[in-house]
Amino acid sequence: MSARRPVLLDCDPGIDDALAIAYLAAEHRAGRIALQGVVATAGNVGIDDTVRNALAWLDLAGAGAEVSVAAGAAGATVVPHAFTPETHGPRGAGYAALPEREEGTTARALDARSGARLWVDLARAHPGELVAVVTGPSSTLAAALDLEPALPRLLRRLVVMGGTYRGHPGNTTPVSEWNVDVDPEAADAVCLAWEAAREADPAVAPAWWCGLNLTERAVWTPERSERLLAQAASADGRLVSLARHLVDALRFYFEFHDSVGEGYLAQVHDPLVAWLALHSEAAVTEPVHLRVECAGEHTRGMTVEDRRGHRGRAANAHLVVDLSVPGGPDAVLDEVMAALADPG
Ligand code: BDR
Ligand code: CA
Repeated sequence: MSARRPVLLDCDPGIDDALAIAYLAAEHRAGRIALQGVVATAGNVGIDDTVRNALAWLDLAGAGAEVSVAAGAAGATVVPHAFTPETHGPRGAGYAALPEREEGTTARALDARSGARLWVDLARAHPGELVAVVTGPSSTLAAALDLEPALPRLLRRLVVMGGTYRGHPGNTTPVSEWNVDVDPEAADAVCLAWEAAREADPAVAPAWWCGLNLTERAVWTPERSERLLAQAASADGRLVSLARHLVDALRFYFEFHDSVGEGYLAQVHDPLVAWLALHSEAAVTEPVHLRVECAGEHTRGMTVEDRRGHRGRAANAHLVVDLSVPGGPDAVLDEVMAALADPG
C-alpha cells in the first residue's frame, strides 16, 4: 500500500461498520492512509441514526475534523427501505450509549454536501488514486454514478461488502445478502456502471465484491472483546472510551447472532472488507461478470456471477474469494485491534 492513500468509506453504522470506521480512523491517525471522507447511508437504521453514529464513532476513534462526513441516501432507490433494528439495535449502535453531540460543540460538523456529491468531489480531487469502500447499501453510490458516470474510471479501486457467492446461503433471503437485498437496483446499477466503464476502457479496475462466503469467516468473540478492553486498559484514555463503546455495541451483535442460531459471537463483515481495501495483495480474486437479480419472486437481491462468459461480457467484478493471510480472518482482526491501539 502506498503511503497516505486517499480513502472514502460509505457505510451504514451499524455495529461492524463501527469497527470499520475505527480501523480506518486509526490508519488515518497513524499516517498510513488519508481518510478523506465518510458517507453515512441509510441502512439497518435510518439516515439520522447512521449519520449520528458515523460522527460519534469518528469522534471516539480520534479522527480529526479534516475527515469530511456527509449524509448519503435516506433510503433505497426504488422500493421502500426496510429497516432492521433487531440486527444492530434501535439506533444502530447496540447497547453503546454514544455521546450525544450538540451542534457547534465539536470540531467536526456534518458536511453540507450530499453523500453522492462528496463521492464525486473526492474522486475528481484524486483521479486514479481514491480507494472507495462500501459497507452498507449501494444507494448513495448509485446516486453518485448518476452525477458522474465516469466515477469507475476516476477511482483507483472500489471494494464492496455485498452479496453472497459460490452457493453460500444468504443472510436475508435464502440467496441474498442484506446490503444488496435492501437496494438491489442500486447494487445492479453499480454492476452496470462498471460494465460500461470497462467496455469503454479495459484499464478501469473491476469492482471488488466481498460476499458472505468470505466475510462470515470474520468472527468477533466475547474473548476478543475482553482482549480489546485489556489492551485499552494499558493504553490511553481515548482507547478506553472507544473500546468500552465498541464492546457494548458488540454485545448486542452477539445476542443477535445467537438469536439466529450462529452462536454467541458476531460476524464482523465490514472491518474485514475495510482491511482488504488497504491490503490488496492479500485478496484472492476471481474475475466474473456480475449482475443483481431485481425481479425474481424468490431470487430478488441475488448476486448472479457469470464465470463462464454466458453473457458474452467482459468481467465487471472481481470476487474476493479468499485471503492469502497466514491465520486467515482471525489474523486480520488481530491487525485491526493492533491498529486501534496505535497511538498514531
Ligand atoms: C452486512 O449487513 C449489515 O448488517 C452489516 O453491517 C454488513 O455490512 C452483512 O450482510
Ligand atoms: Ca454495514
